[in-house]
Amino acid sequence: PVTNAQREDLMTQAVRPTRILYDCDPGHDDAIALVMAHRSPAVELVGVTTTCGNAEIEKTTSNALRILEFIGAGNVPVAQGCYRPLARPLRLGTADGPSGLEGSPYLPQATIRPVDQHAVDFLAAKLLAEPEPMTVVATGPLSNIGLLILKHRNVLPKIRQLIWMGGVFYRKSEIITPTEFNAFCDPEALRIVLDSGVKLLMVGLDVTMQVLVEEPQYAEFRKIDTELGKVVVDWLLFYEKLHRNSMGVGGALHDPLALALVIDPPLVRTRPAHIGVDLTGTFAFGATVADFWNERGEPPNAEIATEVDADRFFELLYSLLRD
Ligand code: RIB
Ligand code: CA
Repeated sequence: PVTNAQREDLMTQAVRPTRILYDCDPGHDDAIALVMAHRSPAVELVGVTTTCGNAEIEKTTSNALRILEFIGAGNVPVAQGCYRPLARPLRLGTADGPSGLEGSPYLPQATIRPVDQHAVDFLAAKLLAEPEPMTVVATGPLSNIGLLILKHRNVLPKIRQLIWMGGVFYRKSEIITPTEFNAFCDPEALRIVLDSGVKLLMVGLDVTMQVLVEEPQYAEFRKIDTELGKVVVDWLLFYEKLHRNSMGVGGALHDPLALALVIDPPLVRTRPAHIGVDLTGTFAFGATVADFWNERGEPPNAEIATEVDADRFFELLYSLLRD
């Protein structure tokens, strides 16, 4: 029989939230992931860092501040990060509009400010101060994480796992592009992360392009009759334009799926692989290439997500958005 002490311990373990640091480039899908991180009892958002990607760093930072203040998480520290990739000019993502968060009329400007520390030093300080290794979630180009590893190599043992939305490996359908933006935008940073030995879970387009927002999902989102529900629907309606016009499909919830893996890891199936990133290609520049047959003779440097339970993901997302 389970003793009271054991039951207490099991209960505590079951509800003790995972303390995370979240590096992002909001961005509409990053924004929804931020909302999930704040509202989930299974996640404690210790800090947010911003990188360029979907928009310039000033915009992704002001977007992160606006979103956090709007959802009542204005107490979460935000540290601004790299204003361009580590080794090449910034090529902006094109899905989120000039502000990086177009289409959200109800979202006031932020009154809070970022901390003075650069994101890289903020991440190092938080990781070194934490008694236990932490989960880091990243849903933008890896410029901050790559620079963190170069400048503060001693934090590596304090990163329990890096969950990154990025890369693409199987490319099984014509709506999956040969390269994925977060990898393409800063491939040298990705190379540093892959070489670092950090425990890396890559959540790529192979699974994120299976969590598309179509009519059935809009119907569910529209049932959430709150200020937050309205903002999320407005975000989704703007965010889907790129996909709808170019591929005829709904917007993909890339970053929310990556964040959801902190809450419910079994949402995806994964497999180990050695991942290389193409730094010289023409048509495949920035591509992430998995060595499934171990031809390179290198040990795996990442777990990649191969399948996803899309319905279970959406149910989790709806539950986190409802009051
Ligand atoms: O390729 C998808 C990624 O690019 C997502 O993180 C999205 O926010 C964009 O940054
Ligand atoms: Ca992103």
